[in-house]
Amino acid sequence: MSESGGKIVLATRNRGKLREMREILRDVAVELITAKEVGAPDVEETGATFEENATLKAIAVATASGHLAIADDSGLEVPALDNAPGVRSARYSEAGTDAANNRKLRTEIAARGLTRPPARFVCAMVAATPEGVLFTVRGEVEGEIIAEPRGESGFGYDPVFFCPELGKTFGEASSVEKEGVSHRGRALRKLADLLKPELK
Ligand code: IMP
Repeated sequence: MSESGGKIVLATRNRGKLREMREILRDVAVELITAKEVGAPDVEETGATFEENATLKAIAVATASGHLAIADDSGLEVPALDNAPGVRSARYSEAGTDAANNRKLRTEIAARGLTRPPARFVCAMVAATPEGVLFTVRGEVEGEIIAEPRGESGFGYDPVFFCPELGKTFGEASSVEKEGVSHRGRALRKLADLLKPELK
């Protein structure tokens, strides 16, 4: 890999994601900075897949900053709903709030007479160099959507996502428990393993 100035730019404004990324990338011998710190522009998520959106963001931030950039895109897929909400997870309902998105999800599931349909969280994560070299990984976690939300932690669809590996919803899990099995934790550990030899 070419010289990226000993810095990796993390292309997210979400504090929870930044903390997870910093924790998992702690052995990588480079300085981690945010896209905000380098003044990189916000990128519209116009892609049809999680990978496309993550790639758009990573390339834009790598180009604007001149450093290696990491970006992710994630969401929830329910196979019985043709994989909705998918890449539209953040803006599934008209209001686009977590509460409204969760309500719409439960309404769509109930309208089809389904109980605890299988679902998965998906995270595509991409590292891009300013020269356009890409590293792409995907992490997934399987679960079920329950009718009544449970738990106060996390965000988005966490309270209705029951994770059999943990025996509780993501809304009931601690951040450490969630990171151990989550789509984002898995993608990030895969990406860290790919990048470590390149950066040492
Ligand atoms: P983003 O593109 O990664 O910011 O995620 C898009 C949307 O997917 C979020 O606004 C959430 O609705 C949903 N989502 C992604 N990851 C999670 C998660 O770990 N828990 C709950 N919802 C999530």
